[in-house]
Amino acid sequence: MRITFFAAKSYDKESFNSIKALYPELELEYWETELSAKTASYVTDSEAICAFVSSDVSEKVLKVLSERGVKLVLMRCAGFNNVDLDAATKYGIKVMRVPGYSPEAVAEHAMSLAMAVNRHLHKAYLRVRENNYSLQGLVGVNFYGKTAGIIGTGKIGAAMAKICHGYGMKVIAYDMYHNPDLDFVEYIEMDELLAKSDLISLHCPLMDSTYHLINIDTIKKMKDGVILINTSRGGLVKTDDLIMGIREHKFFGVGLDVYEEETSNVFENHEDEIMMHSTTARLLSFPNVIVTSHQGFFTEEALEAISRTTMDNARAYLNGEKSGTELN
Ligand code: NAI
Repeated sequence: MRITFFAAKSYDKESFNSIKALYPELELEYWETELSAKTASYVTDSEAICAFVSSDVSEKVLKVLSERGVKLVLMRCAGFNNVDLDAATKYGIKVMRVPGYSPEAVAEHAMSLAMAVNRHLHKAYLRVRENNYSLQGLVGVNFYGKTAGIIGTGKIGAAMAKICHGYGMKVIAYDMYHNPDLDFVEYIEMDELLAKSDLISLHCPLMDSTYHLINIDTIKKMKDGVILINTSRGGLVKTDDLIMGIREHKFFGVGLDVYEEETSNVFENHEDEIMMHSTTARLLSFPNVIVTSHQGFFTEEALEAISRTTMDNARAYLNGEKSGTELN
């Protein structure tokens, strides 16, 4: 079976090619271009395509893919809010994903962002490079003894809770499901979490019910001087409201690995272009905000696990077996 990869970067090719020999029944074709209705129409002789977080897997695209004979969409990521699952089912396309390739990779990045905004590492790095050793404006807070509020304690949220616990923080959480592995975590209601947390980290998926979970009302309920971290999905935070909160000095710091306008930016180099997104530009203008480009997953271990599971998914599909990672 041939798999056409969309938005394939050199590191994708490297990690998939390194295990390719173990899957002789699979042929891999890498396209650097992103998936769209237009690029989908160029697919030939591929029963499967492989897409990523910023790919457009909408009904329009799925329709074209089905016309080109595609029967399987392999998402090489955990989130699938960009996939129209009902449409996939309608067009007879199976969708599989990589549910938990390395929760620690994302959680460790979330804590890196939290520590970076707390201790102003983004400024300190530049300052010392300029031969400026002043500490003015670099004061942070101890995380030890503070309260971490985790929203969503699935695989990544649980890993983040453990990291915060290791820092000596009190860990509180909001999730409809209480993770039995987290005996040190106190589950409370959302409003109470917002009011009590010194650090809030978002780890729930983006769904209709979580869209703009962080908005002006929920921001108002937070402690003054809170640190907010989002490594989950941009749509969880209403950016205009976040900007309003930042301007009102609500936040000690904000760390975003994901944000609403990221889709056209993710993994691309636009350094010679005029920035067209005004909210992204505004976010980047704040001294207490650090933005990274959806790199939470980006560790060697995670890339290896992603390629393994994706290839196993393709093999299970070919053999008519269930892998447990099917979304429809
Ligand atoms: P998971 O499915 O293991 O856990 C999600 C948890 O969120 C579940 O426990 C669920 O009950 C909870 N939840 C659902 N609705 C909620 C709500 N309204 N309030 C509070 N909790 C709620 O998912 P996992 O693997 O932990 O991933 C979480 C998210 O992280 C993914 O959906 C994805 O968007 C994001 N992600 C980001 C990456 C990055 O590179 N920045 C990489 C991988 C995932």
